[in-house]
This record gives sequence, structure tokens and C-alpha cells, in this order.
Amino acid sequence: MKLFVVLLVCAFAISSSFASDPSPLQDICVAIKEPKDAVFVNGKFCKNPNLTVADDFFFQGLNVPRNTDNKVGSFITGVDVNLISGLNTLGVSVARVDFAPYGVNPPHLHPHSSEILMCMEGELYVGFVLSNVLGNRFITKVLKPGDLFVFPLGMIHFQLNIGKTPAVAFASFGSQNPGFITVGNAVFGANPPIDPEVLIKAFQLDKKTVDYLQSQLWYNNHN
Ligand SMILES: *[C@@H]1O[C@H](CO)[C@@H](O)[C@H](O)[C@H]1NC(C)=O
Repeated sequence: MKLFVVLLVCAFAISSSFASDPSPLQDICVAIKEPKDAVFVNGKFCKNPNLTVADDFFFQGLNVPRNTDNKVGSFITGVDVNLISGLNTLGVSVARVDFAPYGVNPPHLHPHSSEILMCMEGELYVGFVLSNVLGNRFITKVLKPGDLFVFPLGMIHFQLNIGKTPAVAFASFGSQNPGFITVGNAVFGANPPIDPEVLIKAFQLDKKTVDYLQSQLWYNNHN
């Protein structure tokens, strides 16, 4: 009996030391007092399972190359819960990434998920930067078809096509909605703009350079 109680206490101690809030399924979910104003739960509302059809779990056309004729020379087709409603609460999604010759998927991060990327065609220079506490060490690799690379949750990462032919990669995520924040777009393309004084001081740039950067079109290469 004593042993049982000790085991029970240990089990409780272990489980409570791992307890945390569940991870968010969307970027923001501001609390409201009046339920009539609610738009989403954390994720999406659920359909009556009896009304579910195969198309709720289906998406087609991911074999088709996307148009990469844009400033950065890449396009991401994220197939998340917004495109496959059956993904709601399941914690997975995928993306297709197309690259023009020398196109880049600019430094970005996914607030809700780690990523595993597989190079299908072409040659990709990829990498991510570790956190401040780990000295911002840069972890990088060149990927050829069939190579996989992992981008841990929240780390800033990129992929550059270093070949003179188009490249294609597929990415898997441990979230129904990995989220997408492009660093340059968020910092220099914020809407409304961040006060230039912040950027001048933070990035040790002169006013002219900050004005130049803030006046650029920060293209969103994600669907
Ligand atoms: C779904 O169908 C089952 C079996 O026909 C039924 O018992 C159940 O009430 C239905 N559920 C809902 C939410 O309509």
C-alpha cells in the first residue's frame, strides 16, 4: 500500500512537471466576453462526423509546378487546415516549395511547428540559425534530390536554389497550421511601418538605408 502511494505521488510529480498549455493552433486567439462575437475556437469548429465526406481529407494538384516569376524566385504552396479541413486537430500538414533558378525562400520561421524538408529536384543551399543562448550558430547544408533537412521549431531558416535549373522541395510540418513569418517582411515591411528610429538603432543602419529598405515591396511568397 505504501509503495503504491509512493508510486502514485511519483507519477503525479512526473506528469505535473511536464504539464503545460497546449500549443496554439493559430497565430492569435484573443479572449472575448461575449460568445456571440466568437469567430474561431483554437483551431476550427468541427463538422458533425456523420456529415464528413472523402473530399474533407483530399487535395490535388501538388504535382503541378507553381509560378516562381516574382522578386525572390520562389513560391510556397502550404497545404494546411485552410486547404484540407479534415486536418483540423490532427497536427500535420505539408507544403510544396518551387524555386526558379537561383531563387530563394527568404529567411523565415514557423511559429507553430518544426519542419522536415525533402529536396526533390535541383540543388538547395539551406540552413537555420540557433538561438542567442546557443551563440546564433549557423547550421547549414547543401541538399540534392532525396536529401532531407530538419528546421527546428521557431528557428529562422531559408533555402536557396544554387542551380541553374528550377528546384522543387516538399516540406512536412507537425502542425495543422505551421504559420509563416518572413523576417524581412515582418521587420521592414510591417504595416503600418515600424518607426525608423527603432530599425536604425537595432540594426545599426543609417536613415537612408532604413528608408530604402522600408520602401521596398516585401513580396509574400506563400499562398
Ligand atoms: C451520427 O450517427 C450515429 C449513428 O447513426 C448516431 O447515433 C449519432 O447520434 C450521430 N451523431 C451526430 C452528432 O449526429
